[in-house]
Amino acid sequence: MKIIASNFKTNHTRKSTLQFCENLEKFIAKNQTQNQSFPHQIMIFPPQSALLENRFKSFQVGAQNAYPTKNGSYTGEIGLEQLEEFGIQTLLIGHSERREILKESQEFCAEKFRFFSQLGFRICYCIGESQEIKQQGIEAVLEFLESEFEGINLNSPDLIVAYEPIWAIGSGVSASLEEITQIHTRLKQKLGKIPLLYGGSVKPQNVREILSLNGVDGVLIGSASWEISSFCQILDNSIDLRSKE
Ligand code: 13P
Repeated sequence: MKIIASNFKTNHTRKSTLQFCENLEKFIAKNQTQNQSFPHQIMIFPPQSALLENRFKSFQVGAQNAYPTKNGSYTGEIGLEQLEEFGIQTLLIGHSERREILKESQEFCAEKFRFFSQLGFRICYCIGESQEIKQQGIEAVLEFLESEFEGINLNSPDLIVAYEPIWAIGSGVSASLEEITQIHTRLKQKLGKIPLLYGGSVKPQNVREILSLNGVDGVLIGSASWEISSFCQILDNSIDLRSKE
C-alpha cells in the first residue's frame, strides 16, 4: 500500500473541491471490488476556505496548515476547534512554501508538530533542501535535512515524512530516480518504519517509476493533482503496484 497525497495549495474553491472529491470517490469505487480494496491510501489537502467534512469513504481530507492552539486571537489562522468542526485529523506541517514564503522557523514547525501530534493528528511533515544547498553535495543536503528534524519526535505515532526538494517543486522536472533513491535510502536509515513520501513535480508520466523505487512509500503531489482527470491518471498509472506489495 502506497500513500498518494494531493496538496491543492492556493487552488480550488469549496465548490470545485467538492466536485473533485465526489469524482474521486466515484473513481476509487469503480476501481475496487468487494474482495479487493483500492491499493493506495489517499489524502487530499484543500485550502482552508474549502475544507470539507472528513466524511469520504475512500480518502482522508486534511488541512494544509493550522495554528497550535484550540482557539484564541491569531488573526488569519485556524486552530483545533475549526479543524474539529470538519473532523479533520490529518495535517501538513513544514511545507517549504510556508518555511520560505511565510518565514516559518524550525522552532515554530516543531511547536505545531508537538501540539498536533499530542492530540493524535496524523502529520505529514515536510522537509527539503534548496538548490543552493543541493549544489554543496549530498552530505550538506543530509545535514540540512537533519536540521529540519530538530524538535520533531520521530516516535510519534501516525507520522509521515515527505521529502520535497525545493528545486523540484513546481519546476516540472522531478529529482532523478538516482537522486530520490540516494536521499531516501539515507533518510530511511534514520526513519525506520516511518512512511517516507517523495514530492516535487510528480505527474502521470513519472509516478509509477518513482513509486516503484525502494524507500519510496508514497508521493505528495501539487500541480499535477489539481485537475481530477490528471489525479485519476496518476492513480491509474500506479494501480498495478498493488501486486508488488
Ligand atoms: P508540485 O507537484 O507542483 O511540484 O508540488 C509539490 C508540492 O509542493 C506538494 O506539496
